[in-house]
Amino acid sequence: LIITKADLKRYLEMDKVALGMKEKRPRILTGHIWKYEISLRYHEYFENKINKNIVDRFLRKYWSYMHYKRGLRLGFTIPINVFGGGLGIHHYGMVVVNGNAKVGEWCTVQQGVNIGQNHSAEEVPTLGDNIYIGPGAKLFGKIYIASGIQIGANAVVNKSFYEEGITIAGIPARKLNDNI
Ligand SMILES: CC(C)(COP(=O)(O)OP(=O)(O)OC[C@H]1O[C@@H](n2cnc3c(N)ncnc32)[C@H](O)[C@@H]1OP(=O)(O)O)[C@@H](O)C(=O)NCCC(=O)NCCS
Repeated sequence: LIITKADLKRYLEMDKVALGMKEKRPRILTGHIWKYEISLRYHEYFENKINKNIVDRFLRKYWSYMHYKRGLRLGFTIPINVFGGGLGIHHYGMVVVNGNAKVGEWCTVQQGVNIGQNHSAEEVPTLGDNIYIGPGAKLFGKIYIASGIQIGANAVVNKSFYEEGITIAGIPARKLNDNI
């Protein structure tokens, strides 16, 4: 969770690494995904900050709007306080995530991914660190995905996987090489 300025700096640095960015800051006409992630992190910071003064309250509204507006352009619905640092998004297009889901650090999310609820808003996925989510994968319900898991393209993940570092794929998702 981003609460302090130091947290914000760390998350921004990790995201930059995850996105493979070398420049100091995004260029004016490009770097849209990077700019989006920066808006997400500033929104998180100003939302979570304790003791907000009037300027902070204004900045919370400003970054909330930038986060929303940039997300609209790219097709991203990624609420605050879901992803740990090191979020890697490499393409534009339809990433929809439930605000109650929790994802660890260094997650890569491809286009067309959905991390959502099933039945009720409490029934959402929890993911560990270092997870790769292939294009089109859908994860939903009260499930747990262990660290280091790679999720294949178009997988439908509707149950928990506790074994770290495996590859899962298919509909419904199963551990690869286990007769999928
Ligand atoms: C899941 C994935 C990583 C597995 O790759 P891999 O370890 O090389 O696995 P293989 O290709 O050897 O496949 C092993 C078996 O799983 C099946 N399989 C592989 N990916 C699958 C998928 N996404 N869904 C269903 N079955 C899949 C294969 O058909 C094969 O089955 P078989 O043994 O009956 O022939 C890969 O298929 C994948 O989905 N990669 C995503 C690629 C990606 O994100 N690209 C970037 C796009 S922007």
